[in-house]
Amino acid sequence: MNLMIASDYDDMSLKAANLILAQVTMKPDSVLGLATGSTPIGTYQQLIERFHAGDVDFSRVRTVNLDEYRGLTREDPQSYYYFMQEHLFSHINIAPDASFIPDGMNDDVQAVCDAYEETIRGLGGVDLQLLGLGNNGHIGFNEPGEVFEKETHCVDLAQSTIEANARFFASVDDVPTQAYTMGIQTIMNAKKILVIVNGAGKAEILKKAFYGPVTPEVPASILQMHPDVTVIADETACGGLL
Ligand code: F6R
Repeated sequence: MNLMIASDYDDMSLKAANLILAQVTMKPDSVLGLATGSTPIGTYQQLIERFHAGDVDFSRVRTVNLDEYRGLTREDPQSYYYFMQEHLFSHINIAPDASFIPDGMNDDVQAVCDAYEETIRGLGGVDLQLLGLGNNGHIGFNEPGEVFEKETHCVDLAQSTIEANARFFASVDDVPTQAYTMGIQTIMNAKKILVIVNGAGKAEILKKAFYGPVTPEVPASILQMHPDVTVIADETACGGLL
């Protein structure tokens, strides 16, 4: 694991964007695995700025997102489909049919999961997967449990995740209780993984995930077994390590 320490959130975002730009420059038809949440917003902002500066061309890039809430339409401002349009896709020259996310409105769980795995396989796999780190160690929506779930599946969100994500909704009762997520194997199949982490609130889980035992109780700990992981964390998140 390669740990890059950033001075603050902006520096973390800049460093992460630089690695994504390097990936797209080296392989213009890269398949990028993308994340939602608060952490990557600054990274996406940097990508938009660099696109407008003429530093990068996304026209051949394909993307797959980690997860989507079950039961939210694409038009719902809280859906991850909407998030990606708002924070990245509508601002860059990515082709409209080149971005994929699980279909949160399809109730046929098996069909959604099989189709998503097939989509990722059909694209030739993920070249670079961007990940945030959940307060409880989740990656995607792979919540702590007794086993590592392998492929894309439907998950019951942990109460702590529902509470953490309530900040985006009118009330905690509006947060969906289920989501579709890439599995741990799906994530581990990515050729490269880039994890971004910021803030003192993530210090303890960052230490557990990358310096503690590999266990499904801390899903991100599996990343210790991946051959090409870069973690970019700001100084406050690294508080427990230094
Ligand atoms: C988002 C995702 C989640 C988040 C994690 C951290 O697509 O899969 O695993 O990365 O919950 O969220 P933030 O960045 O809001 O702290």
